[in-house]
Amino acid sequence: MSEAARTAMENVPESGREHGAQTDLGFLWDFWYPAMRSEGIRGRHLATAMLLEVPLVIGRTSDGKAFAMRDACPHRGIPLSYGHFDGKNLQCSYHGWEFDACSGRCVAIPSLTSHDKLKVERISAGHFPCEERDGYVWVFMNGAAPKLPESVPAAPELPKFSRKFKITRLDCKLPSHIDHGIIGLMDPAHGPFVHQSWFWRSKKSIHEKSKQFEPIPNGFRMSKHSPSTNSLPYQWLKKMTGAPVTTTIDFVLPNMRFEEIQSGEYWFSSRATVTPVRRDLCRIDFVAAWNLPLPISVFRAFAKVFLRQDQQTMIQQAEGLKHNPRLMLIDDADRPAKWYFALKQNLIESRRTGMPMVHPMDGPVTLHWNS
Ligand code: FES
Ligand SMILES: [Fe+2]
Repeated sequence: MSEAARTAMENVPESGREHGAQTDLGFLWDFWYPAMRSEGIRGRHLATAMLLEVPLVIGRTSDGKAFAMRDACPHRGIPLSYGHFDGKNLQCSYHGWEFDACSGRCVAIPSLTSHDKLKVERISAGHFPCEERDGYVWVFMNGAAPKLPESVPAAPELPKFSRKFKITRLDCKLPSHIDHGIIGLMDPAHGPFVHQSWFWRSKKSIHEKSKQFEPIPNGFRMSKHSPSTNSLPYQWLKKMTGAPVTTTIDFVLPNMRFEEIQSGEYWFSSRATVTPVRRDLCRIDFVAAWNLPLPISVFRAFAKVFLRQDQQTMIQQAEGLKHNPRLMLIDDADRPAKWYFALKQNLIESRRTGMPMVHPMDGPVTLHWNS
């Protein structure tokens, strides 16, 4: 390989940080994001996904381990997903370079002869840590890829409270930047307007609420409380168990909202993640598990209505956002959104300075709003 070609090759941006640093797209790197459902990778099939504007090729080795690589050959950039996967190595369709799927390391360059001195194993395709949990393939969006991160935290898992439970998953795409997806997800004031349904609540049921919030690492919690009695499902649950119903809602960076409902021995646990696909597209992945006598089909029917209502609203909102209107965040109903932006900012700042992250809340707070 000529010096010029080698330099050119070394200069090709390989992944994340270069990508994100050129323009700040408001994404948080070095977190796990769900890329797709586990069932999407079977046999030697290569699937594609996009996270934080990084195209990924995702597959499963013959011993069952999921892997994620940047969907671009480090040689000339053709998507590796057009290549051939033998259960261990992925071979590029253009010049046949082969990469170990689990490390991204190059293992063969067919054109090389004994005259070449190129060290094949020094070449890496962009590669990201990959784990499966709750039926999702999670990818750790390492901002320094292809350099491996120093340490990778465990991939997130939905809490479950008994051995037997039902579980179901739904998703929906939103034509918005992740920030709008997230503040929509944690917004308490849209309920009576967007989610009016006979089975949930009507506009008339609007009343004043006071909820206590407390700081938790990388997020905040709506402290354990008895949920509002104007929602039918809670009334039904209370009647069924005869025990008080309690609920706890957590928001955790970069994008997760957990909700836990307990009543007697019954529990319901859900997680919604808003994942940035591109700057103008995100996806909500919603997974719920429970041991209540509630059929999956019934739950899905209701949950779909909810998600569709949110989706419809975000589609309409995107129409307005195209023209860059001025926006506002008000107290107290938008305080969770303010915390989200502050958490994000403070995290970026602490990563930049190496100092501990400052939490935007200095203790428990009670917020009041009508909904
Ligand atoms: S572009 Fe992949 S091997 Fe050349
Ligand atoms: Fe909603």
